[in-house]
Amino acid sequence: MRAIVAESPGRLIWTEVPEMPLQQGEVRIEVTAAGINRADLMQAAGKYPPPKGASDIMGLEVSGRIAALGDGVDQWSVGQPVCALLAGGGYSEYVSVPAGQVLPVPDSGDFGVELAHAAALPEVACTVWSNVVMTAGLQPGQVVLVHGGASGIGTHAIQVATALGCPVAVTAGSVNKLDLCRELGAEPAINYHDEDFVERVRAETDGAGADVILDIMGAAYLDRNIDALATDGRLIIIGMQGGVKAELNIGKLLAKRAGVIATALRARPVSGPGGKSEIVAEVLANVWPMVADGRVRPIIGAEYPIQEAQSAHEMLESGDVSGKILLRVRD
Ligand SMILES: NC(=O)c1ccc[n+]([C@@H]2O[C@H](COP(=O)([O-])OP(=O)(O)OC[C@H]3O[C@@H](n4cnc5c(N)ncnc54)[C@H](OP(=O)(O)O)[C@@H]3O)[C@@H](O)[C@H]2O)c1
Repeated sequence: MRAIVAESPGRLIWTEVPEMPLQQGEVRIEVTAAGINRADLMQAAGKYPPPKGASDIMGLEVSGRIAALGDGVDQWSVGQPVCALLAGGGYSEYVSVPAGQVLPVPDSGDFGVELAHAAALPEVACTVWSNVVMTAGLQPGQVVLVHGGASGIGTHAIQVATALGCPVAVTAGSVNKLDLCRELGAEPAINYHDEDFVERVRAETDGAGADVILDIMGAAYLDRNIDALATDGRLIIIGMQGGVKAELNIGKLLAKRAGVIATALRARPVSGPGGKSEIVAEVLANVWPMVADGRVRPIIGAEYPIQEAQSAHEMLESGDVSGKILLRVRD
């Protein structure tokens, strides 16, 4: 089979690779499209090795059709259109994945999702639901602040939090991106170049602050995020785009009874408490109905043939895209 391989850091080529054997409890997917994630850029640059046992091919999510079933798999059938959360291996013609990490393509009613576009959902849906709801315990009516509102993660988080009945504030860095966030339901959409998000969030909440903050900036925003948190608030850090080390003022946290949590999806185990299969089951039960009735849709900023993965990575790196970028493997 063929897959994308990093021939040298930052040089991606489409080439023959050996196929991984199908293990017990896995399904093999004939890939239609793969979603790109920021983690893939780091892996391509040689800075983010895959977890132990995972494929060393990039790609954390795909859509496609089931091509084969491993021993012990009875909940899926060959030919079924699906999408899946992966620990790696998605930039490829075929990928094998534990059956518990597979989701049906949401295809009901007027809001059906095209098979290729379903590749834009597993990583954002699992990341947002596991952090904002399962970990931070977001309740209807609570205020959410999403940094990078026009990102793949951000565009999904706005829609899910809005569907849950929560006011959503976002930060973004350009007029186009701010407009997209507003279209998806965010208000206020704060331009982080011109405005202090702490003051704006406080002003919009009568001084209370945000109950949950979904952060991708890490160290650069730590202190200001704590300032923007409400009493009993939870700051969930999922990205380190602004660095990994910062000083934490415990006094501020203590006064607010606030929490700071940092999580990563990729390294979670396949099964067991907090594992990927548990998250996928929660996403199926809670997010898929929002997709089925049109409250949540995949936001796709660009699509490339898989052979142009290098250009697609450069596009994501440039920051000139909103939502997700997809790699098309076959029609
Ligand atoms: N921990 C996990 O399990 C997990 C899972 C998935 C993703 N992530 C992380 O989540 C983040 C988003 O992922 P993605 O795939 O959606 O990436 P993406 O689409 O590339 O988004 C990155 C975003 O960062 C925003 N940004 C840059 N500087 C900013 C600043 N100073 N303030 C606010 N926003 C800023 C950019 O928006 P502007 O152009 O508007 O600045 C851009 O939309 C990444 O850091 C990724 O590593 C973590």
